[in-house]
Amino acid sequence: MRRLQGKDALVTGAGAGIGRSIAVLFAQEGARVAVLDQDRARAEDTCRAIVEGGGSALALVADVSNGDALARAFETVRDQFGALHILVNNAGTLVRRSFERLREEEWNKALATNLTGTVMCIQKALPLLKQHRGSKVVNVASVAAFRHRRKLSAYAASKGGLASLSQSLAVELAPYAVHVNYIYPGFIRTSMTRRYVERWLARKTMERRTPLGRLGEPEDVARVALFLASADADFVTGAGIVVDGGLSLVLR
Ligand code: NAI
Repeated sequence: MRRLQGKDALVTGAGAGIGRSIAVLFAQEGARVAVLDQDRARAEDTCRAIVEGGGSALALVADVSNGDALARAFETVRDQFGALHILVNNAGTLVRRSFERLREEEWNKALATNLTGTVMCIQKALPLLKQHRGSKVVNVASVAAFRHRRKLSAYAASKGGLASLSQSLAVELAPYAVHVNYIYPGFIRTSMTRRYVERWLARKTMERRTPLGRLGEPEDVARVALFLASADADFVTGAGIVVDGGLSLVLR
């Protein structure tokens, strides 16, 4: 039984990494997927992979921090799909800078993409999500929301805000039976972590530190997103699931 048969989903930042993996898995599970990314070639590439796998996809090009571009994208979704059952807010950006040197535009970029972008997507999706009871919103946060390293203050604040926003909206949107859950990925092998992973010693150290003994793969996150987007999570809202192989539990 395909777990998302007949469902319409939108995944942001779906042109690469975790978002792409979520979009492809959702399509394999029967969903029609709107693939939103700021990079057209990447969005189209994910759509191609979905269609080649026998699925159905729609490419949307928008920067989630641009309200006008998002309004156009959600209009297209309304015209093509009519409604939405699932929204995954995955688009995100990593800002790494010491707090003392952090520039206003860097802070603004982290917050605009990781937090305000999600706020705008949920607001624009809400009329479509409210058309069915049991619609699901899944937000991709990070263990950086609660386990801290130097130079990640803007990223941590944006992801902590995202977790808090998810809990607040779980309560506020419950009367519409719109579920809002979120994921805290740990260290996942994508372009965001590539420079680190390419350093052999750094990779080995990370593998050794992780209780489950390996790095995370985008599919590890996608399978948890699938659970939260499916009917299996029909009594789950406001929950955050850590997907990090146990890494955030270990004292360093
Ligand atoms: P990635 O860099 O591999 O892919 C991100 C995708 O999002 C790209 O296709 C990019 O074009 C798109 N994107 C970026 N900013 C956008 C914007 N403003 N509007 C529309 N599209 C945009 O990143 P990855 O690793 O797949 O990350 C996905 C999410 O997972 C992010 O929110 C990230 O913060 C989070 N995360 C990743 C972790 C990791 O270890 N890779 C760990 C914890 C959280």
